[in-house]
Amino acid sequence: RTVYVNGEYLPETEAKVSIFDRGFLMADAVYEVTSVLDGKLIDFDGHAVRLKRSLDELDMAAPCTKDELLEIHRKLVEVNGIVEGLVYLQVSRGSDGDRDFVFPDPETTKPTIVLFTQNKPGLANSPAAQKGISVIAIPDIRWHRRDIKTTQLLYPSMGKMMAKKAGADDAWLIEDGYVTEGTSNNAYFVKDGKIVTRPLSNDILHGITRKAVMRMAEEAQMEIVERLFTIDEAKEADEAFVTSASAFVMPVVSIDGVQLGDGTPGRIAKRLREIYLEESL
Ligand code: PDD
Repeated sequence: RTVYVNGEYLPETEAKVSIFDRGFLMADAVYEVTSVLDGKLIDFDGHAVRLKRSLDELDMAAPCTKDELLEIHRKLVEVNGIVEGLVYLQVSRGSDGDRDFVFPDPETTKPTIVLFTQNKPGLANSPAAQKGISVIAIPDIRWHRRDIKTTQLLYPSMGKMMAKKAGADDAWLIEDGYVTEGTSNNAYFVKDGKIVTRPLSNDILHGITRKAVMRMAEEAQMEIVERLFTIDEAKEADEAFVTSASAFVMPVVSIDGVQLGDGTPGRIAKRLREIYLEESL
């Protein structure tokens, strides 16, 4: 695989980053995951805009322009022959060659930028989407700036492990009695034809797929309500689903062992997945 590090395209085995990089030592880094379908990047602009926002919120300099970023994405997709898969992008604050809590001087310390591709044949036609996934509820103990897409992913990783241990596929996070989002996706339920999801705030990541899917739902005359909701409401729903760049629209068929509807992917989730894939291709 060819990867990109700080201006260079290299074989992955030759790519190097300093051990003092703040991305490595302090998770002082932001990232984006953009999906590739039929060799084309999905919603690149949305991801580029959110990346800029994450960088701004952390007073981190942009490592390159949006056009350069697009060029790097396209080149990696091409040289690695990605038809279906993902492009991972990470920007960290870099390092001045030592460990310190105080940010290094931005005049002398450049951000580190790394990109690589992940080949995922069958991403659009995934068996999980045919069957639907199961989730469990766990407390949301993450920091309070979840709108910034940082690489602080230890708790989301632990959440996925808790789900795995419980025999489930993923976890939904609960704070103050309400569902925030999934470990790596935005969460929705459907009751009496109405789609319910949490409104945007610093409590959740502003999903690029969420935005696209909500626009598509509106265009398809589906009703969407943005409000706080509890896990008990979701358990009593007709159907549920999650959205992310890597899962698109993924039906959820059980929550904490409670089966939703007839235990198969719901009509609205299936329809939205179809529309999303059609429009993206
Ligand atoms: N995760 N919420 C969280 C906490 C996420 O990590 C993600 C994305 C989303 C969905 O955002 P988007 O639709 O822009 O992908 C919501 C990515 C895919 C990941 O960490 O791999």
